[in-house]
Amino acid sequence: MARVGFIGLGKMGGRVASRLLDAGHIVTGYNRTQAKAQWLLDVGMQWATSPRQVTEQSEVILSMVTHTAALQEICHGEDGILAGLQPGKVYIDMSTISVDVSRALAQQVAAKGAHMLDAPISGNIVHVTEGTCSLIVGGERAIFELVRPLLQDITSKINYVGGNGQALLMKIAINLSLPVQFLGFCEGILLAEKNGIPRATAIETWRNSALASPATSHRAPFVLHKPEEVWFDVAMMQKDLLLALEMGRQLNIPLPSTAITNEMLTSARGMGLAEKDFAILFEVLGRMAGLKNG
Ligand SMILES: NC(=O)c1ccc[n+]([C@@H]2O[C@H](COP(=O)([O-])OP(=O)(O)OC[C@H]3O[C@@H](n4cnc5c(N)ncnc54)[C@H](OP(=O)(O)O)[C@@H]3O)[C@@H](O)[C@H]2O)c1
Repeated sequence: MARVGFIGLGKMGGRVASRLLDAGHIVTGYNRTQAKAQWLLDVGMQWATSPRQVTEQSEVILSMVTHTAALQEICHGEDGILAGLQPGKVYIDMSTISVDVSRALAQQVAAKGAHMLDAPISGNIVHVTEGTCSLIVGGERAIFELVRPLLQDITSKINYVGGNGQALLMKIAINLSLPVQFLGFCEGILLAEKNGIPRATAIETWRNSALASPATSHRAPFVLHKPEEVWFDVAMMQKDLLLALEMGRQLNIPLPSTAITNEMLTSARGMGLAEKDFAILFEVLGRMAGLKNG
């Protein structure tokens, strides 16, 4: 049992914090919008008024926020995480953000005598709730070993991949396949549907096929019924693809399927669908194919 701090209690972060509470840790949390964290306060999470206060009150501090700019916001300034760090503390960021920014932050954390790990999650909100998400860890190995028991209270699927930033790099490399695979699925279902096979039958047949991947199978039902809670919206998905495309540009690695999928996400935004789950790609392609009930 450790004194754990958590900053960024959104869809993912809130569920991770909930698992830590369930495991018996004392969790002090902060979220920009306090109301979204009420359900955690109701089950025993303690509240702090700033990322700095969370950091001052905790031995291990975790964060999970939207994007690079959000991370800069919670880390810097007089109320930020850096201002509250003391020697020996461990800061673990689970957000999917820029590798370069994360590495620069790790150096600032080290200058305070503290330690930073990047530990992005692969998996959706259901995986986090069930404890089956995959955690990818980068940073000093000895520090990872120190916090491994805590991370195991989040999931048993943990891969340590190297120094600071390497986990983010791996996560971005993995995540590009998520919408790319999904776009391929949409293309196939539309072909079947326009040839007279009912959409539900086509989806069920696809899910039973040798091509069905767990990630796309999880999301496939959203093509029939839009989810009550958006799991991962178009804007957020595009954020990950842009991180991948920039990495590809820097390393001279062409990412053709990523680039095309990224254009389809831009189309979705152009249609006013930025806040929909990215499964809306089916509707975008359906509209392009002239489907009335895309
Ligand atoms: N959703 C998924 O399936 C999934 C899967 C794997 C990884 N991820 C990654 O996990 C991270 C969080 O995603 P999510 O789905 O949990 O998103 P989310 O529900 O939108 O939560 C985002 C969190 O970031 C905070 N935030 C955003 N901008 C901020 C700012 N400028 N200053 C301070 N806090 C800020 C939000 O605070 P407010 O509540 O005040 O807005 C909220 O706590 C992202 O990096 C995402 O790529 C998501």
